[in-house]
Amino acid sequence: MELDPKTPQYLTSDPKSFASVSAHERWPVIVTGAIDDLHRTVGDVTDEEKRAEGKSIIENLAKLKYELQHNRQLTPLPDDGEPDIAEYNKELEQRGNPTWHNVAWLFSECYLYRRIATLFRLSKHWKSYDVFSRQKMSTFKSSRPAVLELAGKYKQLAQEAESSKGTDGKSPEQVEEAEKLLFSEMCEICLWGNATDLSLLTSLTYEDIQKLQGAEARKSSQKNIIVNDMDAAFDVLREARKTKKNQERRVDIVLDNAGFELFVDLILAGYLLSAGLATTVVLHPKTIPWFVSDVIPKDFSDLLNALYDPQAFYTAPDDTGKTYEPLSDREVEEVKFLFSQWSHFHAEGKLVLRPHRFWTTPGSYWRLPTTAPELFEDLKQSELVLFKGDLNYRKLTSDADWDPTTPFTTAIGPLGPKSGMRTLAFRTCKADVVVGLPAGMDEKLRQTEKGGGDSGARKWAWSGKWAVVSFCDGKV
Ligand code: F6P
Ligand code: MG
Repeated sequence: MELDPKTPQYLTSDPKSFASVSAHERWPVIVTGAIDDLHRTVGDVTDEEKRAEGKSIIENLAKLKYELQHNRQLTPLPDDGEPDIAEYNKELEQRGNPTWHNVAWLFSECYLYRRIATLFRLSKHWKSYDVFSRQKMSTFKSSRPAVLELAGKYKQLAQEAESSKGTDGKSPEQVEEAEKLLFSEMCEICLWGNATDLSLLTSLTYEDIQKLQGAEARKSSQKNIIVNDMDAAFDVLREARKTKKNQERRVDIVLDNAGFELFVDLILAGYLLSAGLATTVVLHPKTIPWFVSDVIPKDFSDLLNALYDPQAFYTAPDDTGKTYEPLSDREVEEVKFLFSQWSHFHAEGKLVLRPHRFWTTPGSYWRLPTTAPELFEDLKQSELVLFKGDLNYRKLTSDADWDPTTPFTTAIGPLGPKSGMRTLAFRTCKADVVVGLPAGMDEKLRQTEKGGGDSGARKWAWSGKWAVVSFCDGKV
């Protein structure tokens, strides 16, 4: 905590903050979802010991739900053998053993998912069970229209990216301009893939998700990117390609959600590799199930398995017996093209998965250089570290109540100028914190429909409708 900024963090006790909505309304629904999932799985278990253990986890989840709904104190986490438990418990004590409805939002939300993880880690038969996996895969299945649309586009774009390495009869300025545009398009695909995380599914339908994911939605959302540093990010990658021609040039992606968002992250990664803007892309998943939809390593293999046989995956009847139209031969071929490119990059060591426990610790990324120095050193080797999603943005800025005109480079503290690390954040806004806005912009957005008006709440920033792309060159 001593490493975090002095600016106060958002609290679950503040009725004007999305923290309060999350703690009162959304978390109980999320825990109920976990209980339902486990219930279904336990129902099919024949091994008596495993079944009994599963039931006991269900009871503990119900207890957790009771505690949070009745505003009980957060209790110390049981030791499940992992080193971060001590850090959680120390911070819990430093925060004065708070109750669920009067605690820093960021800390308590991390605690919630870490506590759920202990229930499984401490079991004999359920250690690696991911209580959110079913939900992640079924949402990916419902992303079929957007996946097929992008798969169709990808082949053409990957080829364009490769051909723009040459001059093609165009002037160098035209080549550069075309490449910049393509880069922006890839980034936009990757950015808006974040609009659909599952912890928000408590308020979105699958139809809403499909609408959010298509090309038309992206076009009409361009104007909703209220801070856009994509060009600056492109410039550093292009410059590195020029000056470090035959050397390794790494781009890192600190992942957010599985399923469709991971799919678009891989689209961006594949494009960067094809265009020579990176020679290696390192992906950073979580090590435990996190914020419902975040990527753990198994989600990566689940995604590749689904794409290996898209016909089987997309046409398997669901639990209700609903059946699906078969994919056309062309659609199957296009998805398989993606699969083969990505597996190829993976096999060649150009697409690497590097999990680290730091990502599921309770604190802000202001703590990174001190609490995970080896990870920080590693990230400094990268040309660019892309942080995906809302939670990563909250952690970069410590989820603090900054004045919205505070520069991003200030709000990320020790990761800012001269840190040695280049930071790029792609975030659709789903929480209160926001920085780097021009003066007057927050006020203007509050006056838009459902923007919060004069209520004192920054509601425009809660729904994923608006986005920020913020960059800080920490190498200068
Ligand atoms: O909408 C709120 C929320 O659940 C936040 O608690 C969290 O920051 C975010 O959504 C998760 O979103 P993302 O998957 O984009 O990090
Ligand atoms: Mg997430």
